[in-house]
Amino acid sequence: MKFRDLRFPAGFLWGSAAAAHQTEGGNHNNWSEWEKIPGKIKDGTNADIACDHYNRYEEDFDLAQELGHQVHRFSVEWSRIEPSPGKWDEQEIEHYRRVIKALIKRDIQPMITLHHFTNPVWFSEKGSWLNPDAADLFAPFCRRIADEFSDYGIIWNTINEPMVVVTIGYLWGDFPPGLHDFGSAIKAAKHLLMAHGQAASQIRDVYESKGLEQPKIAPVLSTSYIMPENPNNSNDIELAEYIDNLYNHLWIKSAISGRILEPMGEGDIYPTLENSVDFIGVNYYSRMVVSSERDFMAGELGPKDPCRVRCQGLEWEFYPDGYYHQIMDYWKKYRKHIFLTENGIGTSDDRIRQRYIMSHLQKVHQAIQDGAKVDGYLVWSLTDNFEWAQGFSSHFGIIECDFETMKRTPRESAFMLREIIQENGLTKEAQEKYLD
Ligand code: GAL
Repeated sequence: MKFRDLRFPAGFLWGSAAAAHQTEGGNHNNWSEWEKIPGKIKDGTNADIACDHYNRYEEDFDLAQELGHQVHRFSVEWSRIEPSPGKWDEQEIEHYRRVIKALIKRDIQPMITLHHFTNPVWFSEKGSWLNPDAADLFAPFCRRIADEFSDYGIIWNTINEPMVVVTIGYLWGDFPPGLHDFGSAIKAAKHLLMAHGQAASQIRDVYESKGLEQPKIAPVLSTSYIMPENPNNSNDIELAEYIDNLYNHLWIKSAISGRILEPMGEGDIYPTLENSVDFIGVNYYSRMVVSSERDFMAGELGPKDPCRVRCQGLEWEFYPDGYYHQIMDYWKKYRKHIFLTENGIGTSDDRIRQRYIMSHLQKVHQAIQDGAKVDGYLVWSLTDNFEWAQGFSSHFGIIECDFETMKRTPRESAFMLREIIQENGLTKEAQEKYLD
């Protein structure tokens, strides 16, 4: 194949993403409770120790620095900070202050996610995202974190992948709370939207009251290219359009318009959503094929293409064209800057990961050429970690983690990414090396 050098815009930011529960160990939250229920985690493991990142963050950030990373995205674990309603754990706040300072010391920009899937147990006991007051229960935590860390030049992410929380937790039942109910799913989506609004307005308010320049704030979406199983069947096409709107757009359209759109609401204004989206965080892994003959609401997707490589355990197909499609779609519909906050593949064969990252970055470059404003790219993930319902059976790290010894070993893909970062682009030679 013929390649040419692909340069990214000056100032494009590169790095990696992770989340508290998947890496830290020692968390007590709705997921640690879920992990105790037999059968919920495919390989029967739990995140009790995870990567022990809570104690080893310095070592992990040393590696991120050596690998040239400029940004690190991580989450602050709500259940640590607010173990019971309104009670603050000062030691945990100081822990995260050390984490932030450790990044800054290494010249790595911290990007903080306020909610990455996990809730304190007390919040679950109050009905979690089905509680009409859920957003108000979440707000004090956001305010406290914004207040504590407003001096560190943080880029803020409010909610990670609300539609994954909703679809997998409330519709397909594979994540907590394990429901299979469309009405509940829509209600949870609405309350997560309100929580995003609350988070953003708390941050804005804290910065304003301190006379600080407003930071950049974004929700982070999981996006999937939704395709009809039979492109000539109008029922399949209609279903694909319906799911695309529901999964990829309803929530962000609401956040940007400031209105709780149908079916979550009746278009009513929710004031804290105003000015809540500076940019859109976009996580992309694969496509979803849907068919009118199958029950999407029960988690039934179309057949996989046997010729495509798939993500370990999760079976997501290697589908870089979908990345280009989704970036362009968000750009054209909303005209908001995009930060690619997660992209990667679970695999034990690092050559697949190298090919995955390289071919997805080609699509990012193409989208930028075609006008999309993309500010950065974060690989998921820095190290192998606890992959939710898959446990430890899906390896997403550019750094291998031996879960017996906790030894970290960067994979070839990590060095490939370092070269990409140094070049701020994909050289012809690198593409030949990793794609041919
Ligand atoms: C995302 C999620 C991450 C990670 C990744 C790979 O949906 O934000 O926590 O698990 O998928 O499955």
